[in-house]
Amino acid sequence: MSEYEFDTLAVRAGIARSQFNEHSEALYLTSSFVFDNAAQAAARFSGADEGNVYARFTNPTVTAMQQRLAALEGGEACVATASGMSAILSLAMATLQAGDHVVASMGLFGATQQLFGTILAKFGIETTFVPATDPDAYRAAIKARTRLFFIETPSNPLTEVIDIAAVAEIAHACGAILAVDNCFCTPALQRPLEMGADVVVHSATKYLDGQGRVLGGAVVGKKVIVDEVLKFLRTAGPSISPFNAWVILKGLETLRIRMEAQSATAIELARWLEQQAGVERVYYPGLASHPQHELAMRQQKSGGAIVSFEVAGGREGAWRVVDSTRMISITANLGDAKTTITHPASTTHGRISAEARAAAGITEGLLRIAVGLEAVEDLRADLARGLAG
Ligand SMILES: Cc1ncc(COP(=O)(O)O)c(C=O)c1O
Repeated sequence: MSEYEFDTLAVRAGIARSQFNEHSEALYLTSSFVFDNAAQAAARFSGADEGNVYARFTNPTVTAMQQRLAALEGGEACVATASGMSAILSLAMATLQAGDHVVASMGLFGATQQLFGTILAKFGIETTFVPATDPDAYRAAIKARTRLFFIETPSNPLTEVIDIAAVAEIAHACGAILAVDNCFCTPALQRPLEMGADVVVHSATKYLDGQGRVLGGAVVGKKVIVDEVLKFLRTAGPSISPFNAWVILKGLETLRIRMEAQSATAIELARWLEQQAGVERVYYPGLASHPQHELAMRQQKSGGAIVSFEVAGGREGAWRVVDSTRMISITANLGDAKTTITHPASTTHGRISAEARAAAGITEGLLRIAVGLEAVEDLRADLARGLAG
């Protein structure tokens, strides 16, 4: 279907119809599939017949979601997983072994940092975290067994923007692959595979669902890599529930419209925050004051819908803003139609050491807003109360 435009692919790619020819995609809630006879069972297990076997391996609803997301990212293949973290873990398990080395950007999502910095380290996989926006730092970090570069752009929560094409070139020059966490932008705003990335990972829990209903994840990109991820998944089992895949499949239909509307509100809110006396700094790639604004405008269709800002008064000032809200949801999720507010230092990034947090620029006064679909006037009013002090 790749001859179609993004909007068409969002509603038409990956259609799974049963014998009833339903118009909305069918949800196949089944853990296994029946074979016509013993020979077919054997052929399915050997792979000679590509039909479904068991839902840990494949399921038609999951396949439909994978096909739709692959089409939107412009990837050769996609494998869906139980969560964003299981997508990152599965990618690491499929591409790395003991003794290998990873170059990762500083300021990754907290659990991703923990996964590379602590968990994979226990199994002999070493990661060097480098300042996200400095291409020379990526080059300088390369070791003999560097196999994977892992970046998140814009980063969570400081919205640092990384030059994907530049990092891809550095990774490829040493024979490594580049994986990009495209959670914040989604393919509606940024297509890393077109800029040289080998795979994209997603927390589908966020904008791909778009209404905060289910967990999910995905690895999209070169078939040789995605096939290895699928092999790991089939054995180790962090597979997505067909129900969750169905919700995400339907979420993809409205992805571009939501991303555009949420980004439009986000820039208005970011500009307003810049004018508020209690706000010391605003981090939003769509603002001219953002250090990588020009790169962001080249690489992304808009600044996205995440606005972070630092308030005066450290943790006390930040918690006052959080606790003064009446409408905005105090929750760690992002990418929902409902706006959410998070204090990263005490929640999403609370488990990493204070030194690592400071090195990543996550101060006690930092707040992250994931802008939803509400009216901007109501969002401003909800934040103004706590900012007024
Ligand atoms: C950028 C980013 N990557 C990955 C994840 C992990 O996704 P999940 O919660 O679906 O495991 C998150 C979750 O917040 C995230 O923000």
